[in-house]
Amino acid sequence: MTESTRRAMMLGAGGTGLAALLSACASYGSPTSEVSVESPAPEEEASSDAPKKKKTAKKALADTADIPSGGGKVFEGQKIVVTQPTDGEFKAFTAICTHQGCTVASVSNGTINCPCHGSKFNIADGSVAAGPASDPLEEKQITVDGDKIRLA
Ligand code: FES
Repeated sequence: MTESTRRAMMLGAGGTGLAALLSACASYGSPTSEVSVESPAPEEEASSDAPKKKKTAKKALADTADIPSGGGKVFEGQKIVVTQPTDGEFKAFTAICTHQGCTVASVSNGTINCPCHGSKFNIADGSVAAGPASDPLEEKQITVDGDKIRLA
């Protein structure tokens, strides 16, 4: 074998090796592209990750000036009673009587009054002042922001 024949054989072998390597790269590339097809489209990710937010600011229930000191006011639409037992201290309770579910109708003489059977509840803590109700009115959380009273 001459030196030139040996070189020719090595080049030929190298060429075959290169062809095999290119073939391997080509077959390796196919599964990779399939994986990328399986992943969700960017638009879908964006829409599923973006929760729809609503405004969280709550509408004021009342102005502090609406609530008499030592008394209160019934908000029939919201089924809430807001009271001011002492100057600047505001409380809120459900307006649903714990006796049989009537809506309380008035606040007077330090009590929240139910018209149906005469139950009375203390404006300071909703406790029963007079039956037939035996359970207090449930207190509701409120926030006072300046002169606005809001449900918390
Ligand atoms: S429902 Fe209020 S006193 Fe009976």
